[in-house]
Amino acid sequence: MKRVAILISGGGSNMVRLLDSMDGDHPARAVLVGSNDPAAGGLAKAAGRGIATFAIDHRAHASRAAFEAALLEPLLEVQPDIICLAGFMRILTPDFVRRFDGRMLNIHPSLLPKYPGLHTHARAIEAGDTQAGATVHEVTADLDAGPILGQARVPVLVGDTADTLAARVLVQEHRLYPAVLRRFAAGDRTPVIL
Ligand code: GAR
Repeated sequence: MKRVAILISGGGSNMVRLLDSMDGDHPARAVLVGSNDPAAGGLAKAAGRGIATFAIDHRAHASRAAFEAALLEPLLEVQPDIICLAGFMRILTPDFVRRFDGRMLNIHPSLLPKYPGLHTHARAIEAGDTQAGATVHEVTADLDAGPILGQARVPVLVGDTADTLAARVLVQEHRLYPAVLRRFAAGDRTPVIL
């Protein structure tokens, strides 16, 4: 059984979908949920599902290196096989990423390689794209640029705002991330295309 740790920064709707998917014959189980924000709404949702949680407030650390050293401790304690970033909004240094080389996944709300970084939906609308979506990829030292493990597409509709498009994409994120994690945990890196 693969051991999965999940990092979040906010409401954690993707995290909840991942937790709920790891059941029955799934090759992985969640062992820990952590956040850089003690107020992240997702922490209570994980605790309510019986998962151990922790928060390391990035604002309480003087440097990115100090924050990451603190973040590393509870993660190393549970010896995760896989780390899922699920709405985790801190950029991780190459040093941190290297520790979990080939074992860390992220979900990003765009059809990468388009729109790495922030404001993905507004940028897709601004560019006149007719399709948008989400990508799950392996985390490497370069932001939002690791090997793609899955993508889900949605149409951009006339009159869409960043919010309406984000809501449509999020529905697909909830299908995509559990599907990719299941496949990845079974040792299969063939991209999931939804
Ligand atoms: C999701 O849309 C995820 O793709 C995005 O944050 C949201 C988190 O929602 N992630 C990023 O933008 C990463 N750069 P959730 O907390 O409800 O899962």
